[in-house]
Amino acid sequence: MATAPLANVPNNLESFWMPFTANRQFKANPRFLIDAKDMHYTSHDGRKILDGMAGLWCVNAGHGRREIIQAVQAQVAKLDFAPSFQMGHPGPFELAARLTALLPGDLDHAFFTNSGSEAVDTALKIALAYHRVRGEGGRFRLIGRERGYHGVGFGGISVGGMVANRKQFGTLLTGVDHLRHTHDLEQNAFSRGEPAKGAHLADDLQRLVELHDPATIAAVIVEPVAGSTGVLPPPQGYLKRLREICDRHGILLIFDEVITGFGRLGAPFATEYFGVLPDIMTCAKGLTNATVPMGAVFVRKGIYDAFMNAPENMVELFHGYTYSAHPLAAAAGLAALDVYKAEGLFTRAKELGKHFEDAAHGLKNARHVVDVRNIGLMAGIELDSRPGKIGARAYEAFLKCYEAGVLSRSVGDTLTFSPPLIVTKAQIDEMFGTLAKALATID
Ligand SMILES: Cc1ncc(COP(=O)(O)O)c(C=O)c1O
Repeated sequence: MATAPLANVPNNLESFWMPFTANRQFKANPRFLIDAKDMHYTSHDGRKILDGMAGLWCVNAGHGRREIIQAVQAQVAKLDFAPSFQMGHPGPFELAARLTALLPGDLDHAFFTNSGSEAVDTALKIALAYHRVRGEGGRFRLIGRERGYHGVGFGGISVGGMVANRKQFGTLLTGVDHLRHTHDLEQNAFSRGEPAKGAHLADDLQRLVELHDPATIAAVIVEPVAGSTGVLPPPQGYLKRLREICDRHGILLIFDEVITGFGRLGAPFATEYFGVLPDIMTCAKGLTNATVPMGAVFVRKGIYDAFMNAPENMVELFHGYTYSAHPLAAAAGLAALDVYKAEGLFTRAKELGKHFEDAAHGLKNARHVVDVRNIGLMAGIELDSRPGKIGARAYEAFLKCYEAGVLSRSVGDTLTFSPPLIVTKAQIDEMFGTLAKALATID
C-alpha cells in the first residue's frame, strides 16, 4: 500500500515482523516512539506521551537515567563481552551478591538470563533437576495457573494459561496441569487491593495433588499478581495457602516476579509484600531498568546446595546462555540498584498507593467499566466486551489515550497502567483522567 512517508518513520515497515502485534493493522497506521526522558516518550509526530506503563512494566526508575547510561557506556568501553562458561568477570558476582542481599530468607543464589521468558524456563529446569539430584526424579509434573503469563518459551507457555499464546504451538510440555485462575467478577468486582474472597481457590492445588499423586509434582509456578492478563491481585490469604499445600507435599513454589519485582508493589519484591517465601523466584524487566535485557532466577540455599554434592570437577547444572551475565547487563543492573536505593523507589509505590488507588477507582462509574483492580502501582480497568469482539473496545480506548498523550496497554478488554515509580500525583490523575475522557467518547 503506497502511503506518504511520515517524519521519523522508516520507509520500509515490511521487513520487521513485530512481536505480539497485529502487524498489518499497525503498519497501516504506525505509532513510533523516538526518544524518552523520565516519565515521557516523544512520538514520531513530536508529541509528549506520558508513559503510563513504564514501557512494558519495566522502566521502573523512568527513562534515560544518566547514572545507568554512564555505567553501561563505561562498561562497553572496558569489557564488551566475556563468557561466563568456565570464566568469570566481576559484574555478575557483585550484582548477584547485591540482589540476594535484598531478598528475604535464604533466597541467596542468582542465575542470570536475558529475559523473563528465559528466567521462567530456567526456573522450571532447576526445579526438575533439583528433584532429580536428590533422587526424586519421579517428580516431573509442573503446575501453572489459568490466566498466568510466564513468557513465551515452551516451558513458559506450557505452564502459562493464556489460550492465544498456547494454541498455535502444538503439544507443549507434557505433564503439566493448571490451577484455576482467581478472577471472580461476581464476588470481587471493584475490590481495592487484594480481593476478600477466593483464598479457597488455592485448594485447587490439593485437588491436583490428589489427582496426580504428590510424588509426581515438582513445582507450582504463579505470578504473585497476574499482570499480563489484566492485573489480578491474589485473594487475601491465597498465596499463604498455596505455600502451605506445597510444604505439605514437598512441592517447590516458584514466584514469577518479572512484573512485581523491583518496587512495583511498594516493597522490593512481592514475596515481602505478601509475607510468603517461594523456593525459586524469577525476575527481569526492572532488574536493569530495561536499559539492557536481563533476567534472573533466585533459589533458596537448599536448592543450590543440593546441586553441590556432585564431584567438584562436574558441571552441576547443564544450562546457561551465551549472554547469561552479560557485562553490559550486569553494569546496568548495578547502576539501577543504586538509583532505586538513592531515590527510595522500592517503597514509593506504598507512598503513592492510596492516591493511585483512588484515582483508578474514580473510573468506577465511567462508561463500559465493569471492574477496577489495583495493587501497588499497577491497575487494571476492565471494560464490558463488545458482543463477539473481545478486546476491540479496550484497544480503541488505548488508541484514544495514546492520541491524547498517555501510553496505557490493552489486554483483552482490560486497560492496564503500571507507570514508572517516579510518577507524580498529577501524572497519575492525568493517566486516569485521560482514560475517563476516552471512555466517554467510544461506543
Ligand atoms: C510474569 C511474567 N513472566 C515472564 C515474562 C516474560 O518476560 P520477557 O518478555 O522478558 O521474556 C513476563 C513479561 O511480561 C511476565 O509478565
